[in-house]
Amino acid sequence: MARILITSAIPYINGVKHLGNLVGSQLPADLHARYMRGRSHEVLFLCATDEHGTPAELAAARAGRPVADYCREMHATQAKLSDGFRLSFDHFGRSSSPQNHRLTQHFAGRLAEAGLIREVVEKQIYSATDGRFLPDRYVEGTCPDCGYEKARGDQCENCTKQLDPTDLINPRSAASGATDLEMRETRHLYLRQSALRDRLDAWIATKTDWPVLTTSIARKWLHDGDGLRDRGITRDLDWGVPVKRGKEDWPGMEGKVFYVWFDAPIEYIACAAEWAEAGGRPDADWQRWWRTDMGAEDVRYVQFMGKDNVPFHTLGFPATIMGAGEPWKMVDYIKSFNYLNYDGGQFSTSQGRGVFMDQALEILPADYWRWWLLSHAPENADSEFTWENFQAGVNKDLADVLGNFVSRVTKFCRAKFGEAVPAGGEYGPAETALIRALAARIRAYEAHMDAIEVRKSAAELRAIWGLGNEYLQEAAPWAAFRDDPDRAAVIVRLALNLIRVYAVLSRPFIPDASDAMLAAMKTDDRGWPDDVAGALTALAPGHGFGVPGPLFAKVSDEARESWQEKFAGTRG
Ligand code: MF3
Ligand code: ZN
Repeated sequence: MARILITSAIPYINGVKHLGNLVGSQLPADLHARYMRGRSHEVLFLCATDEHGTPAELAAARAGRPVADYCREMHATQAKLSDGFRLSFDHFGRSSSPQNHRLTQHFAGRLAEAGLIREVVEKQIYSATDGRFLPDRYVEGTCPDCGYEKARGDQCENCTKQLDPTDLINPRSAASGATDLEMRETRHLYLRQSALRDRLDAWIATKTDWPVLTTSIARKWLHDGDGLRDRGITRDLDWGVPVKRGKEDWPGMEGKVFYVWFDAPIEYIACAAEWAEAGGRPDADWQRWWRTDMGAEDVRYVQFMGKDNVPFHTLGFPATIMGAGEPWKMVDYIKSFNYLNYDGGQFSTSQGRGVFMDQALEILPADYWRWWLLSHAPENADSEFTWENFQAGVNKDLADVLGNFVSRVTKFCRAKFGEAVPAGGEYGPAETALIRALAARIRAYEAHMDAIEVRKSAAELRAIWGLGNEYLQEAAPWAAFRDDPDRAAVIVRLALNLIRVYAVLSRPFIPDASDAMLAAMKTDDRGWPDDVAGALTALAPGHGFGVPGPLFAKVSDEARESWQEKFAGTRG
């Protein structure tokens, strides 16, 4: 048995996430966690909300709420949606937790002791009316390129040009509209990442098994980008982790907080501490996942994220950990994803384009989305959600193949033999052939799941479902029943056992349907089919079962068309 620590990139607190966000980190992380648990490994699966920084402050201001209240509510909203999608986190934490405050300050203190922090005095825009320094996004003005009057200090939304706040014509505060902006000196902490370049380079070079998407981005930033420039890790904001050196105040840093990208990945660690506290466990329980001097040396740590997050996880966070010089667990494998597009364009949170997690669950159960998203995960390239494709995936794979198999087998058995696994006859050549084919496919499925090849795993699972229908079609129990009821009993016995095996194998993808199949088979035996022949006799003659309601309803053309229209843009 292995121990596997799994984290998903922690979603920003400001608003409900769309399906593109979901498939880029949380959902595949859940697939991996469920699979590893199914194979009897010990898993700790963590996620949290990323609560600090300007976007959170702005969203709270827009909602007219104190930022702490806003974050508390949005955390509850996101937690509820995670449950709705059956994301099986052991803990869904918050980067604003006291644990993360302590750890973030601790890391900063260690980095300072190691001589990896320097103080820099720089000039930034200050608004006398607001009584504060304005981060880039808090400054609005006219775009020097396209003339758009509401360009933000970091970027023009209209022409996408990257901007500096000082580029803007007629700059004003986005918070108050004030125009009395001035440049003022302010002191900030910089992490000397450049001093760690050789160690990071050597570390990345050992990761020969990582997906190309991950290592190519890491190498690009290490070598020809300026990703390893020393980076500012503090900000002049109110909301965040106050700048401290361990437990000590940091002279000159009063009233400042750490930059959100400094404290967010540290939440991966803090979240384990939150998990322990929430469960009344001692600190040693989380430290055995995170401290290599306290038992974590045999942990395999896997991270999931979208490609835009890769630089922070391959360089930024490892620099923090390495620089701290303490025996913290480093990541073993980073699975990253491209983008999922929406119906000929991009998902857009600001324009409300695409399907968001709350809306998705209002129209269909979680399993439909989970299956389609995972089987189309943007692994090797960006992929696209279209309603036609979604309809086809649900109707063919789930309703016609899996759902139909379960319904035919259980109904036929009930009609001819009653609601118990029938006795009589013995498995013959057709069953041996099926078992052999199934065993080969299950071993292939395991190999893809072990390698976190999401699409290949889905394709293999689909083929495994298909084997059941092919077997039923050829063995034709309805025909056999007339001359040789024992032969029909054999076929049905195998098919009922196959339903249990399908429930176990499919569980990481479609947990609710898996529950329904196990309930129908009146069993909670989730034993993995290591021995396929054995697994297909687990339900013995006389074992009761029931006919479940339809596992999946088809998506009609009318429903598809109405959703297509409804989700074309401007949410709410
Ligand atoms: N909130 C970030 C995003 O959604 C991800 C943060 S991941 C972590 O892009 F490293 F900070 F934890
Ligand atoms: Zn512009």
